[in-house]
Amino acid sequence: MVNSTLTISSKKIKYRTVSLFSGIGGFDLGFMYAGFNIIWANDFDKYACQTYKANVSKNIVCGDIRIEKENIPAHDVLIGGFPCQPFSTLGKLEGFNDEERGTLFFEIKEIIRKHKTKVVVLENVKNIMNHDSGKTFKKIIHELESLGYVCFHHVFNSADYGVPQRRNRCYIVAFLGEYFNTPDFEFPVKQKLTVTTQDLLDEEVEAKYFLSKKIVGTIMGKGTKNYIVEPTIDLSISKTLTATMAKMHRASQDNYVTDQKNYEKYCGEDRVNIRKLTPNECRKLQGFPSDWIQVVSDCQAYKQFGNAVTVNVSYALAKELFKYIEVNLK
Ligand SMILES: C[S@@+](CC[C@H](N)C(=O)[O-])C[C@H]1O[C@@H](n2cnc3c(N)ncnc32)[C@H](O)[C@@H]1O
Repeated sequence: MVNSTLTISSKKIKYRTVSLFSGIGGFDLGFMYAGFNIIWANDFDKYACQTYKANVSKNIVCGDIRIEKENIPAHDVLIGGFPCQPFSTLGKLEGFNDEERGTLFFEIKEIIRKHKTKVVVLENVKNIMNHDSGKTFKKIIHELESLGYVCFHHVFNSADYGVPQRRNRCYIVAFLGEYFNTPDFEFPVKQKLTVTTQDLLDEEVEAKYFLSKKIVGTIMGKGTKNYIVEPTIDLSISKTLTATMAKMHRASQDNYVTDQKNYEKYCGEDRVNIRKLTPNECRKLQGFPSDWIQVVSDCQAYKQFGNAVTVNVSYALAKELFKYIEVNLK
C-alpha cells in the first residue's frame, strides 16, 4: 500500500458509517477501501477539515462534537480515534478528569445509545490500557457492555502492517449483542515488513529540512542532568510520528536521517547532512495514498500525520470487520 494510490473496494459499498474525531481521515480511508460507506464525519480542527475535504470527501462537518452530535444521521457503524492526550504518556495523564478532552468517550457513549449503533470501533494510545492502573480501560469496556455490546480489543503496531513505523495503538471493536451472533472476532494477522524508512525517503529535499550547524548540537545531544538519552538516527523502522514533531525534539525522540545527496545539492555551509523527515515522508510512513495533496502549512501537516491512524492498520482491521459483519449480522 505504501506510496501507491489505493482504489476503493470493488465490492458493494455498504454499512452506513459515521466517523468521529476524523482528523485527516486515516481511519476513514481504511474503512472506505474495505467497502464501508462513510456518510458523516466530524472534526473541530479547521485545518484537518481542509485536508480531509481536499483528499478524502467533502462529507466532513467542521465543529465541536458536543454540539454537532445532534446532527448525526442514522447509521450502522461508528468509528473514532478519540483524543488520546489525557491517556498518553506524553501528556499529563489526567484521563477522565481532563474536562476538555477526557470526557469525550462519554459523548460517544451517548451517541451510540441514542442510535443503537450496531458496531463501534475505537482507537487510542496503547497506554489507555494501563492508565490509572487499568481502571480507565476497564471502565470504558464496562460502559460499552452496559449498553449491550460484546467487546474485543487488540494492540496493533503499524510496523506489522506494511509501514516502517513503530506505532502501537489500542483498538476496541464492539458489537451490539441484539444484532449479532458474536463468536470471537479475529484481529488481522501480522504482515512481513518489506520496506524500510530509507526506501521511503524523498528524492528531492530542500535545504530547510536540514539541521543548521547552530541546532545540531542540541538535537544530537544526550540531554541534561536527570534526562540522559542516546540520540538515534537513520532507523530502518521509524519512531512513532507525533503531533508535535514540527517543533523538532531531540534525536532520541524524533526521526532524523542522513541525506548526503540532497545536502550536497541544496545546502550551504550553515547546515549539516542530517535532516528531519519531510511531511511527504510522514505521509508515506502513515500509509496515506500517493495522490495526497498538502493544502496546509508544513507545521499543520506534521501535526495531522502525527495524529492520524495508520491507513494500513485501519484497512487491515476494516477488511476483517467487513467479513465478520457479513457472516454474523442476524
Ligand atoms: C487523534 S486525532 C484523530 C485522527 C484521525 N483518526 C485520523 O486518522 O486522522 C483526534 C482528533 O479529534 C479532534 N477533536 C478533539 N476534540 C474534539 C471535539 N470536541 N469535537 C470534534 N473534534 C475533536 C481533534 O481535532 C483531532 O483531529
